[in-house]
Amino acid sequence: MKTEEIKFTISVYDSIEELNPKDAFILSEARSATQFAYAPYSNFQVGAVARLLNGQTITGTNQENASYPAGICAERVLLSSAASQYPGIGIETMAISYNNLNGKSDRPVSPCGICRQSFTEFQQRTKTPIRIILSGMEGRVQVIENAAHLLPLVFGPDDLK
Ligand code: THU
Repeated sequence: MKTEEIKFTISVYDSIEELNPKDAFILSEARSATQFAYAPYSNFQVGAVARLLNGQTITGTNQENASYPAGICAERVLLSSAASQYPGIGIETMAISYNNLNGKSDRPVSPCGICRQSFTEFQQRTKTPIRIILSGMEGRVQVIENAAHLLPLVFGPDDLK
């Protein structure tokens, strides 16, 4: 028997002001995009904005439905949109923010498990690690260099061979 350790590092900033201008721009856009979420059931509005390797910027927001499972997260709206509008182009960085209309929005929250699964396959398809910036409408910011770090021991396309 042997043990294996899985670790990764995140960078933590006190506020958006500490980010470089390009990262601050997409985080600010993600915060602002929360207003375009359709979240009448959860009141939890999520905005995601990505900078692609071709320099384009793509936005996603969560879109809920009265048939609850039909709703889709902001991150996967963005990934679908990127793959449809700019097929094969990698995402360099994605900023994710949220506005919780029932509570506070002053700390980073992490993407859900389904989105983590989608990130890893998108990364494999485009052969590009996605940097992730997480923050609420204000306060602390976390930066993760590779979305795959969020889902160790992932199930992926190679497992189907
Ligand atoms: N949601 C996202 O859009 N992204 C996340 O990372 C977490 C959750 C959405 C799904 C649902 O519309 C609402 O937030 C509450 O879960």
